[in-house]
Amino acid sequence: MGSLNKPSYRIVAIPGEGIGPEVVEACLEILQHVAKLEGFTLQVDYGWLGAAAKEQFGTYFPQATAQLCDGSDGIVFGATSVGGLLELRKHFDFFCNLRPIRIVNSLLHKSSLRPEKVQGLDMLIVRELVSGIYFGPAGRSCDDNGAYGYHTMRYYDEEIRRIARKALQQAQQRRGLLTVAHKENALPHLPWTRLVQEEATQFPGVIVEPMLVDNLAMQMVLNPQRFDVILAGNMFGDILSDIGGALVGSIGLLGSASLNADGFGLYEAIHGTAPDIAGKGIANPLGTLAACILMLQQWGKVGAAQRIIAAQDRILAKGYRTADLSPEGAEISVKTETLVDLLLEELSTVQHSELGVLHESCK
Ligand code: IPM
Ligand code: MG
Repeated sequence: MGSLNKPSYRIVAIPGEGIGPEVVEACLEILQHVAKLEGFTLQVDYGWLGAAAKEQFGTYFPQATAQLCDGSDGIVFGATSVGGLLELRKHFDFFCNLRPIRIVNSLLHKSSLRPEKVQGLDMLIVRELVSGIYFGPAGRSCDDNGAYGYHTMRYYDEEIRRIARKALQQAQQRRGLLTVAHKENALPHLPWTRLVQEEATQFPGVIVEPMLVDNLAMQMVLNPQRFDVILAGNMFGDILSDIGGALVGSIGLLGSASLNADGFGLYEAIHGTAPDIAGKGIANPLGTLAACILMLQQWGKVGAAQRIIAAQDRILAKGYRTADLSPEGAEISVKTETLVDLLLEELSTVQHSELGVLHESCK
């Protein structure tokens, strides 16, 4: 993979709208700081997507943005509400979306479940990102019964097989259990179970557990600790990953990596533009930061990634919380900027010797 452990990197930052620009700026500051500490350089180019792009270029996903991203080492994306994001994902064939859902010890009581239900929670949702109902034949039309609209959940077998291989690989590197979200009792022409099981013959040691997606959603709430890797198509993965936000205490904590076959990636939080709090300086940057951590791991910069994880864990352990985490009691309510300052300070004090067990990289 071209980006592995180089002395200098170029990324494209696409802030987007809503809280996007605030959280991206926050993370760039942290990334620059960690790059200095770890001895590599980071060049940042700014790209446009969504409403900002439409204003300037007349289109949600301008060619100028695509060109800027071409040949870069990664794209750090904020949020958009109007369009462009699906085109960006499709353009670079970012089919493999990794959404880790891991509980932070000091936030156990922030979960919507009882602490003992989420203690040690560590699952990974592998979501197919460039096909399925988001990209199948769609439109509006009318017939004798009136006007109608349609979106089609279409998957080529090979699209299922290639994301299955990624999920199997992840499961092999983790605890060896792959739960496959499907809906074959209603959608029998999408045989996720059979296709994944066929691919699994190449991944000894991985147990494939097919599960109807409605039941899976319930099990994620009843017994989330049982899961290791969950494989899902585009829409099911979108829905299931928001449950992850409730499990860990705030959707503002979760990030994702979307990779193509070359390992080139788009890194974004799972949350949206949050228009209700945009511009107030109170957004939680940790979702986008989680995505940036995945980017560093993808680059092989595991020390840099671990440094940020350690700093973040310490800041949270000290009780600092952004508004989405509903600070109460002895917890200290902080704005985005303060949280970033605290992280910058903490980053410098993390010693290499304390970097401990490294989190799994998302190869
Ligand atoms: C996500 C988001 C997007 C999606 C929206 C903004 C199109 O919900 O990344 O989870 O559905 O993929
Ligand atoms: Mg979503």
